[in-house]
Formats: sequence, structure tokens, C-alpha cells
Amino acid sequence: MQKNMFQIEKISKCQRIIEHPLYRQELEKIEKCEADRIFCNHSFNHFMDVARIAYILNLERNFSLSRNIIYAAALLHDIGRAKQYIEGIPHEEAGAEISKVILTDCGYSEDEISVIVDAISNHRGSNHIDSTSNALIDILYTADKASRQCFNCKAQNECNWSLEKRNLEVYL
Ligand SMILES: [Fe+2]
Ligand SMILES: [Fe+2]
Repeated sequence: MQKNMFQIEKISKCQRIIEHPLYRQELEKIEKCEADRIFCNHSFNHFMDVARIAYILNLERNFSLSRNIIYAAALLHDIGRAKQYIEGIPHEEAGAEISKVILTDCGYSEDEISVIVDAISNHRGSNHIDSTSNALIDILYTADKASRQCFNCKAQNECNWSLEKRNLEVYL
């Protein structure tokens, strides 16, 4: 259904992300690349799982980050995945570049973009350990891992994740 201008004004910045043409395009590419993947995928459902877990962590840890910031980081953290499959660019790097474009178009401020992109750039790595100054890096990293149901996965024997990295608990 076509939206009128009034409705467009009212939609949240996060909603604008998921309706952004570049976002839709990259999601579609990821889905195609992962059609035969037996391991965890990087679907929209994964992004929503991460968003919701990250928001729970935000409440539990009293970080007071806004929903708009947390959901943006979660919805975008793996958006560079197709570029990793197709062009060999690490997905946190590709995702950071794609995210800058989308976040700018969706009305995020420069400060917000900087915090979100920093979290996306660091969502895979050991940097999160030194990042107590950036609560978003901390909860995005933790939520990303907690979202994976390694304890119930059929591809456990083939998975290259180390035991330390795997989520072996049903909690969260
Ligand atoms: Fe990732
Ligand atoms: Fe992820």
C-alpha cells in the first residue's frame, strides 16, 4: 500500500532502515548466497533476535541506550555479509560502509552514526573486550552470540566456531 506524506513523516528511523532500497537489496543478496548454507544464517530473523536480546541486555545493565540506536546496530550488523561471500570483503567492514549510507538517508545524526558504525565494525572481534566505553559494542557482541542456538544445532560437528564462542546455554 502506498504511504502518504503524513505517514512517511511518522515512521521511525528504524522503520526507514528496513524499507531502504539498499537494505532490501543486500538482504536479498544474503538470502541467495545462503540458500544452501547448513550453518547459522544472516536473515532478517537473526537481526531481530539480536535487536531484542540487545535491548534486554540494555535494560539489565542500565545502559539507557535508545531503541533507535540498538535496533539500528542490530538490523545492520551483518548487512555486509553478501559482500563477504561475493567480493571477499570482511562483512564488518562492508557492513560499516553500507550502514553509513543507509543511516544518513534515514535521518540519524553524525554522532549516532559514529556510535552505531563503531559497534558494527567491532561486532565480530576481540575489540569488544576493551570497549567498556562503548556500551553498544558490548551488548551487540553479546547479543549476536547469545542469539545463536548452538546447544540445539544440527551442524555442530561441522561448525568452525571455537567452544568458547559457542552459545551453549538456553538463557537469553
Ligand atoms: Fe557478523
Ligand atoms: Fe550476527
